Amino acid sequence: MTPPLLEARQLVKSFPGVRALKGVNLTLDPGEVLAVIGENGAGKSTLMKILAGVQTPDSGQILIDGKPCVIGSVEDAMAHGIALIHQELNLARTLDVGANIFLGREPSRWGWMDQARIARESALILARVGLNVPPSTPLSALTIGQQQLIEIAKALSIRARVLIMDEPTSSLSVHETEALVRLIQELRSSGVSIVYISHRLGEVEAVADRVEVLRDGENAGALPRPQIRRDAMVKLMVGRELSQFYPHQPHPPGAVAMEAREIRTALYPKQSVSFSVRAGEIVGLAGLVGAGRTELLEAIFGVVPALSGAIELGDLTLRPRSPVESIAAGVALVPEDRKHHGLALEMGVRENLSLANLHRDQRFGFRDGPRENALCDSMIAALRIKTPGPSQPVQFLSGGNQQKVVIGKWLATDPRVLLLDEPTRGIDIGAKQEIYRLMEELAGRGVAIVFASSEMEEILGMSDRVLVMHEGRITGELPRQHLSEESIMGLATGGSSAPLSSQ
Ligand SMILES: Nc1ncnc2c1ncn2[C@@H]1O[C@H](COP(=O)(O)OP(=O)(O)OP(=O)(O)O)[C@@H](O)[C@H]1O
Ligand SMILES: [Mg+2]
Repeated sequence: MTPPLLEARQLVKSFPGVRALKGVNLTLDPGEVLAVIGENGAGKSTLMKILAGVQTPDSGQILIDGKPCVIGSVEDAMAHGIALIHQELNLARTLDVGANIFLGREPSRWGWMDQARIARESALILARVGLNVPPSTPLSALTIGQQQLIEIAKALSIRARVLIMDEPTSSLSVHETEALVRLIQELRSSGVSIVYISHRLGEVEAVADRVEVLRDGENAGALPRPQIRRDAMVKLMVGRELSQFYPHQPHPPGAVAMEAREIRTALYPKQSVSFSVRAGEIVGLAGLVGAGRTELLEAIFGVVPALSGAIELGDLTLRPRSPVESIAAGVALVPEDRKHHGLALEMGVRENLSLANLHRDQRFGFRDGPRENALCDSMIAALRIKTPGPSQPVQFLSGGNQQKVVIGKWLATDPRVLLLDEPTRGIDIGAKQEIYRLMEELAGRGVAIVFASSEMEEILGMSDRVLVMHEGRITGELPRQHLSEESIMGLATGGSSAPLSSQ
């Protein structure tokens, strides 16, 4: 029998206060697509970083083609043909496409960079990943999805035999995701092995030959192709079945809690948006990537002041210029790009949770320590934030747990109007359901909720009403009883009905 292309045996890795891997095994065969799934903090990224030489294990063994070997650095891993595409892209934004593909190992001729060769070879590799741009294109001109393809092109250019993708689709549009899935299938048939990490189980069903599940730093089980089904994956990940995934119940809507009037943003200065949301109502904001949803929510919250327009909150009319004003008026926004706008990475979980709330927790000018602590601890429990303790710096939490901290921070401000931008991106399925329950509970208490999401299922599952945006304006409004994938996609693509190809 031929040995697996790559094998990990009994890998152990600890961080201060956390045993991230407690003896994990993994095998990967040539030309196989292996999906690795598990809850936030299960150890997926840590395992991949070890295989790619970014981190070294405390103990355990790695074998390539059946031979034990030491992967002490990223260069070692590359020499063995292993490339990791990180959750956060690692490209040089100031360079062009060709330079990025060859970054760090530019071909040279007599001491000069061989531009002709860079251009020639990058054109070939770009064609292979299906990206139709000249190598001289500046990176900044590409969408996130296209940049992802550059990362893959870079890996192919070092002749990677193993391509590890850590949540590659979390910021991709529907079309980009479909294109990536096709590319993965092509790469597999050309003999490249792929390790694929994702919280989107539909995608896993579509691409994986085998699924390996991690739970709390241990192998929780594996599924061969015929057994890869959503319920089986969930059961292994969470350790129980999740019933009634969308807990949504329509509440009798109350008075109008917020009215946005004629909001114009810099992205689409010729368009304006008006809508209202009632107390206890959950409004979904749907649309394709680039439709202007994030810009709209940011303008309402005052992160980026609107070009014109106003927000009415009861008797109060606001022209939001800063989040401080909006918070005081009872509005909160959980941003999309949580890494950059949501967290103080070097500060602790508890401090981050209370950041947005400081102005309220003051007694005679002092911070109300005990109350703050109690609130934070209840958030950690409610959102099931996995941390060794409340003072752990958030930079050491797993990606999904960092996101939960941002959500908790804004929930702690006790808003009347809650704006959520892609609230469950990167979040595992158990925690997703917790977030839906929280939305439900808040709506039940009369909070008005507006949430933007690219996940059709969650828009359909959680909205009382959906507003669909296309190129900066609202192209339609659908009450719950008229919600369907087709009706939403039709409006999201500008009115013409173009149903999503079903996968
Ligand atoms: N550099 C670090 N220092 C301290 N703890 C860490 C570090 N890196 C990871 N951890 C901890 O190790 C555990 C596993 O984290 P890891 O990032 O591997 O999870 P994950 O499965 O990728 O989760 P997610 O789905 O949220 O990305 C977590 O508890 C995390 O907080
Ligand atoms: Mg991760």
